[in-house]
Amino acid sequence: MDEMDRRTLLRRAGLLAGTGALAGLVGCEPDRRDRDPAPGKAAAAAGGWAGVRARFELDPGKRHLAAWVLASHPRPVADAIERHRRGLQADPDGYLEDHGPRLDRQARSAAVEYLADGGDGRGGGAGADRGQLAFTRSTTDGLGLLYGGLALRPGQEVVTTTHDFFSTHEALRLRAERTGARVRRIALYDDPAAVSTERLVAAARRGLGPRTRVLALTWVHSGTGVRLPLAEICAAVADHNRGRDPGDRVLVCVDAVHALGVEPDAVPRLGCDFLVAGCHKWLFGPRGTGLVWGRRDAWAEATGTIPAFNGAAIGAWIEGRRPAGPRAALFEPGGFHAYEHRWALAEAFRFHLDLGKQEVADRTGDLAARLKDGLAAVPAVRLVTPRDPALSAGIVCLEVAGHRPGEAMAALRRRGILVSVTPYARPYLRLGPSVVTSEEDVDAAVGALRALA
Ligand SMILES: Cc1ncc(COP(=O)(O)O)c(C=O)c1O
Repeated sequence: MDEMDRRTLLRRAGLLAGTGALAGLVGCEPDRRDRDPAPGKAAAAAGGWAGVRARFELDPGKRHLAAWVLASHPRPVADAIERHRRGLQADPDGYLEDHGPRLDRQARSAAVEYLADGGDGRGGGAGADRGQLAFTRSTTDGLGLLYGGLALRPGQEVVTTTHDFFSTHEALRLRAERTGARVRRIALYDDPAAVSTERLVAAARRGLGPRTRVLALTWVHSGTGVRLPLAEICAAVADHNRGRDPGDRVLVCVDAVHALGVEPDAVPRLGCDFLVAGCHKWLFGPRGTGLVWGRRDAWAEATGTIPAFNGAAIGAWIEGRRPAGPRAALFEPGGFHAYEHRWALAEAFRFHLDLGKQEVADRTGDLAARLKDGLAAVPAVRLVTPRDPALSAGIVCLEVAGHRPGEAMAALRRRGILVSVTPYARPYLRLGPSVVTSEEDVDAAVGALRALA
């Protein structure tokens, strides 16, 4: 088959457009020419945080303290989705062929630029590599694929924690059921409000055994609001790994869904091996999008489960050979996608880069601190989340004496204050200020809880 025929076949299968592998193979550094016109930091700042809030279609009559549970799309993201939707509706094959590769590249470039940014506004720093990234549809997708496909030798175990969410626990249970892999759970704390960096790091370190191959963590616990000192834990694991065979090194894998869009850290500098997140929570990205980022060497340990259905994989299939190329591209689940959402990831990451990763983190932290300060003065409220900003993020969990969390949530809802309840064995009331929340929203929530108590 000559190259023309091959390209035609791939195109007909919709494979040249939006191919992860092709994008992954072509380049490492984000191509700045790929940038769509962005509103710019100055423009975002001109309207202040109220201006940022005004770019969402969220019901203005409500106070959105659970907006990050499932994203509403800010204007640039919604507009991009609509633009691509119209193009695909008019001529799916043609739009995919004419625009797909460029739009796919833009989404990946923006993602790696965002991940590599350390909050200093200098996106695209060290480690910005499209070949280290796989797109998924959600955190759960990514965790299922990662924990299902990580290489484990006989006798090696996975250590996870009692604080992780269903998606991690269930992905590991399924892995164990399929392969007999050993999974062990450890507790990093008893009382979330009383955690300290030293004790969390020591507990993680104590939990590692001689056969531990994977440490499966969640950066910000959605059941308690505790933010793990991830870089410190990764440093302790690196210490533990010193002198070990590459095949016996502990790989740190992280569910970062409540950190992506809140924490300003440059992901490649954290020291973890894999980071998994949905982009439809704090990032306010397109619903039904997510990612798995992996350290370059770590990707060698991960095998895909769903056929990648991209140029590299199907080209190899046509030629009767094993696919070659970046593992991330072969790991990325293939098939046609909801492209209008996937491509609008470019605008979602750009939205945050334009606001400033550090500015978003500071804003979220300031509002969370205001909320916790207010609640600390309400005698009937017991804060579950640490007050320390280094050990908490945007999620604030609490109990109200005499009220079940579900009842308290319903009472707040009746007053137009939207909050959530943690979906864990021990449920708590959960509030989360974000870039769509104002000081007045936070104060109203505190006032409503005071009145409730
Ligand atoms: C810690 C954590 N991980 C994963 C998820 C699921 O995210 P997704 O909808 O992106 O799969 C949630 C909540 O929805 C969560 O709290």
